Amino acid sequence: MPLQLTHPTSAPHPKAQSMLPAIGGFPTSDLPLFLAGYSELCRVDLSGKRALEICGGFGKLAAGLAEAYPQAEVTGLDLYAASGPEIEERMQRLPGLSYVAGDAFDLSGYGDESLDLVWGQAALHHLAHNATGLAASVRRVLKPGGRLVFIFEPMGHNLPVAAIRAVRMAKHELEDESNLYLSQFERMAAGFSSCEVQMFNLLGYPMKAVSDRFEWLSKTVQSMDALLFRRFPKLLRYGANCNVIFTK
Ligand SMILES: C[S@@+](CC[C@H](N)C(=O)[O-])C[C@H]1O[C@@H](n2cnc3c(N)ncnc32)[C@H](O)[C@@H]1O
Repeated sequence: MPLQLTHPTSAPHPKAQSMLPAIGGFPTSDLPLFLAGYSELCRVDLSGKRALEICGGFGKLAAGLAEAYPQAEVTGLDLYAASGPEIEERMQRLPGLSYVAGDAFDLSGYGDESLDLVWGQAALHHLAHNATGLAASVRRVLKPGGRLVFIFEPMGHNLPVAAIRAVRMAKHELEDESNLYLSQFERMAAGFSSCEVQMFNLLGYPMKAVSDRFEWLSKTVQSMDALLFRRFPKLLRYGANCNVIFTK
C-alpha cells in the first residue's frame, strides 16, 4: 500500500493547543509538528472510546488527552515503574485515566479489537528493532477504523539528521535510538488500510539549536519549508522529522 506523504498546514484541532505542555523539553521550533500530531489524536471524538499511549514517559501527554476527553478511557504505558505528577494529579479527578508500567511489545493484556487509538510520542525510534512486530500486535488490538499514531520521529533520509545523529550514536549518546525510513513504514503498514506520513523540518532541522532564542528565524524557515514542500512534493521524503498515522 503506498504511503501518503503530507506537510499539514491547516489550523490545528481546537483541543490540540491544550496538550502543548506535553512537549516538555523538546524544541519549540517543532511546534507545528506537535500541533499536527496532537490534532491527529483528536481527529475522532474520543468520548466513550479507549486509547493507549506506549512509551509515554511520565504520562504528561496521556494526562493532557484525558483532560481534553474526560469521558475517554486513556492509559499511559511505559517501562518506567512510576508515573509523573501531571498524570498523578489528573488520575485523582479523571476516573478513565490510568498508568501502567509495561513493555510496548507485550500487548497480551489487551483483547482483539479492543482499542480505538494507540499512540506514542518520540517512541517508535526506540522500538525500531522490531517495528513490524510492534505494528502487527497493535493492529490486533485496534478496532476496525482504529488508528496507530506516532508523533515526533527522526527520519534517516535527511542528510544533516543522518550525519549529526551518526556522530551522536558513535559517542553512545542515543542509547537505543535509531533513525527511521519510509521502507519501514511500508512494512509496518501491512494489514492497515492507510498510512499517512506528515513530514516537517526540511531546512528547519538546524534551527532546533537556536529556535528558543530566535523564534522569528524558526518561523521564517518553517514558511520556507512549507513553500518548498508545496512546490516540490518529491522533497517530502527528505523531511527530518515526522508524524505517522496508520489506520486499520
Ligand atoms: C524519548 S522518551 C519519550 C517519552 C515521552 N513519550 C515523551 O514524549 O516525553 C522514550 C520513552 O520510551 C520508553 N520505552 C523505551 N522502550 C520501551 C518499551 N519497550 N516499552 C515501553 N516503553 C519503552 C522509555 O522508558 C522512555 O520513557
